[in-house]
Amino acid sequence: MSQAPSDTALAYEAYRRPEDLGAPPSESTAMVQLTIDGKAVTVPEGTKVIRAAALAGINIPKLCASDMLEAFGSCRLCLVEIEGAKGLPASCTTEVAEGMEVTTQNPRLADVRRNVMELYISDHPLDCLTCPTNGDCELQDMAGAVGLRDVRYGYAGENHLDAEKDESNPYFTFDPSKCIVCSRCVRACEEVQGTYALTIDGRGFESKVAASQDQPFLDSECVSCGACVQACPTATLTETSLIEMGQPEHSVVTTCAYCGVGCSFRAEMKGEEVVKMIPNKDGHANHGHSCVKGRFAFGYATHKDRITAPLIREAIDDPWREVSWEEAIGFAADKLSKIREKYGPNSIGGITSSRCTNEETYLVQKMVRSAFGNNNVDTCARVCHSPTGYGLKSTLGESAGTQAFDSVLKADVIMIIGANPTVAHPVFASQMKRRLREGARLIVVDPLQIDLVRSAHVQADCHLQLRPGTNVAIINALAHAVLSEGLEDRPYIEDRCEPDAFEDWRRFILEERNSPEALAEVTGAPAEDVRAAARLYAAGPNSAIYYGLGVSEHAQGSTMVMGIANLAMATGNLGREGVGVSPLRGQNNVQGACDMGSFPHELPGYRHISDAETRALFEREWGVELLPTPGFRIPNMFDAAIAGHFKGLYVQGEDMAQSDPDITHVSDALSSLECLIVQDLFLTETAKFAHVFLPGSSFLEKNGTFTNAERRISPVRKVMKPLAGYEDWEVTQLLANAMGYPMSYGHPSEIMDEVARLTPTFHGVSYEKLDRLGSIQWPCNEKAEQGTPTMHVDTFTRGRGLFRLTPYVATQERSTARYPLLLTTGRVLSQYNVGAQTRRTRNDQWHGEDILEIHPHDAEQRGIEQDDWVGLKSRAGDTVLRADITERVQPGVVYTTFHHPESGANVVTTDNSDWATNCPEYKVTAVQAYKVTRLSDWQLEFGEFTETQLELLRKARPPVSA
Ligand code: SF4
Ligand code: SF4
Ligand code: SF4
Ligand code: FES
Repeated sequence: MSQAPSDTALAYEAYRRPEDLGAPPSESTAMVQLTIDGKAVTVPEGTKVIRAAALAGINIPKLCASDMLEAFGSCRLCLVEIEGAKGLPASCTTEVAEGMEVTTQNPRLADVRRNVMELYISDHPLDCLTCPTNGDCELQDMAGAVGLRDVRYGYAGENHLDAEKDESNPYFTFDPSKCIVCSRCVRACEEVQGTYALTIDGRGFESKVAASQDQPFLDSECVSCGACVQACPTATLTETSLIEMGQPEHSVVTTCAYCGVGCSFRAEMKGEEVVKMIPNKDGHANHGHSCVKGRFAFGYATHKDRITAPLIREAIDDPWREVSWEEAIGFAADKLSKIREKYGPNSIGGITSSRCTNEETYLVQKMVRSAFGNNNVDTCARVCHSPTGYGLKSTLGESAGTQAFDSVLKADVIMIIGANPTVAHPVFASQMKRRLREGARLIVVDPLQIDLVRSAHVQADCHLQLRPGTNVAIINALAHAVLSEGLEDRPYIEDRCEPDAFEDWRRFILEERNSPEALAEVTGAPAEDVRAAARLYAAGPNSAIYYGLGVSEHAQGSTMVMGIANLAMATGNLGREGVGVSPLRGQNNVQGACDMGSFPHELPGYRHISDAETRALFEREWGVELLPTPGFRIPNMFDAAIAGHFKGLYVQGEDMAQSDPDITHVSDALSSLECLIVQDLFLTETAKFAHVFLPGSSFLEKNGTFTNAERRISPVRKVMKPLAGYEDWEVTQLLANAMGYPMSYGHPSEIMDEVARLTPTFHGVSYEKLDRLGSIQWPCNEKAEQGTPTMHVDTFTRGRGLFRLTPYVATQERSTARYPLLLTTGRVLSQYNVGAQTRRTRNDQWHGEDILEIHPHDAEQRGIEQDDWVGLKSRAGDTVLRADITERVQPGVVYTTFHHPESGANVVTTDNSDWATNCPEYKVTAVQAYKVTRLSDWQLEFGEFTETQLELLRKARPPVSA
């Protein structure tokens, strides 16, 4: 073995509390000059004095103010003197003015501040030495800053020192005895998160913070985002991990490994242990906010189920054998080589993961194309957003979302189609809610009553509650309404789009069969509502579409994406801030996995494998000859495996045996393989069928980059050494070398340099630039050195925008007498995808099982009551779930999630798929539901198989105590 396990030095800086300038920045471009303590300061008009002072290096004491929150002015600690002004104004609420002269320190101010602190401290437990935030407490700091030496009011009077702690939330504790009622938590919940779970109850001395109706946090509306904990200047709201572990001593900036928002975090560490993950205020995607997953659910990385030694076995009913890396890699390479020799070059392939870094994904596809000698590489985007790639590329010329997340703050009308941002993209949802509270209008197109239809201070103007499977009908109806009412943007179309294609599309859309009236029967959405939504969207002036898997995971997923692009082009809503078409990508690096050439037909940068010039470029760099024809997609691999001519598969970080549709078919395919190599953190459902298990590394154990849904490339930085010795890219490199294809990267930055050399949209990307800028939105090249927040500004990437015809074709998955209901699937906030990570954290408290949501009418017809076991049967298979009777779903529609393998949601989903990309139609399955008293046969078999596989694993591993 030529390469030693990774010992890359961990790059970190000493822990420090993030700087807080006391008030948010002003957006004004006009500048104002003033003096603060005799120092000349120039800041934008509208800046608060406290911020202007902080920018000049003068820190005015404060407690209730924060640069994440609007000014409040309750604590009176930040008082200053302003020449010519009466009294002592609060610097956190006072705006700068031209020529203003401010004094921040003198004996009078010092006296007032000391007095304020005395009052606070007289009702505060003096247990600093044993307090969890000792050493990182703003109250403590302020006592020091004002020179508090005595508390004249004593501690014996009426106080809150005995108030009881609320420890109901698994991730943070609320200790009201330490509360100074500064209201920062309440305001953070409102302004930053937008949940409005907290209030200040009572008045005067009786005031206290209360969650919902004075409930324990866990029972309240709180969604555990952590914004209040972050805002609290005392130990009142404190992370449980901090209480357990003590203060961190260094921190590393990295990127969340959960959803496509790609939040930046400071991993705050004690040695190699994470104490807490603090959302990074400098993070361009999240601006200091987070959700429960990224903020708290990192415990899986050190969970006892982690497999940290390579395992091999000849057959899947053999016990695993723990072996050295050398033996495992040799075994895997030998098996793959022999299969290739025996069954031909097309008999092996690889699957990349949207959870892995760009560098790792790039390397897997390179290994398949070079070392395996074919193009049989695919990725999980196949089952989520492959239609986005196809639909946007063919209309606009680039397979990615057009906007930065911040663009939503300039939108006047927001249309959400088939997405549930508050659960799947929570931090972006908070930003969206902020804009909606500012007055933007909202159109929701979804079969479900998603949270945003009606929640605190947010109410959709239109909810088109369409039937599952009728997306294309509704987008055509919206376009028909726009054109028939003359609401299209003619100058924009003439200037930016292909005229003939527009004319063809216009004639097609104006056909009566596409009118809202003709389609109302099909979609279930009243024609007048569709027309109202179309008018709202067309009026803008800035209208933005955000869509999710409810668009792509359909038999007409690609058609729908084209329909969305058509509507945006027709109304001139592309090419500037506040508008656009933005796919909300599910997993953290699904955009990156696609960018890096994970599809069998595309090299990195979405260039077709048949293009000789592109191939020649890669052939020169890689030193091999590439096949000019696309390889197998995932469904092709499975079919070929069952047919007996696809025999070897390398899977990095994917769990098709839980996430892909028609699980029985997937299991049959995996069982047909002669060599399945799985590289992962745990014994996943797919790994139970494996012959080689290569331990993976979590995002905390590696360097690399993720690319989020807004094309933002963000750094992933190693905060601890890989538990199994290698980062994932190193393992791929070892395997490629063992297969006879030499790779010798010393660091992932070298892989990114290669990507940049070979990919025009990445030409300007480097680790040095990422360190300097924090993150970069591609394209980043000679034309856009700093990256590209908004795409298609003057012209579309393909030149002129291309309208594509989008005839609505009803899916085969229609309700029938036998299967009268339509099943649609989705996610919950606390769990992530197949749940392999989140189920191994305290998030399990919120969603211990997948349940079936069913409308009261359908439940009553079937004699189903709340929490009953319900059999769910489709033409693909059947399973049993517990019932939740709710009007969130419409009559005729049932809904579930797929976070727990034993629920078998994907046993029921079928192999129907998108006509262009094979993306499965998860969102529509015709089913019957009926009351049962036992688990399904599949579930019983699944239980047995799982128990057997765990036993085979136990035989290989020494038992680990919990
Ligand atoms: S954790 Fe988030 S949702 Fe819960 S109370 Fe705090 S700010 Fe509100
Ligand atoms: S809990 Fe913390 S942030 Fe909230 S009012 Fe009390 S001290 Fe202020
Ligand atoms: S899961 Fe998504 S929204 Fe939540 S912290 Fe991670 S990247 Fe941000
Ligand atoms: S910090 Fe200004 S009043 Fe509290």
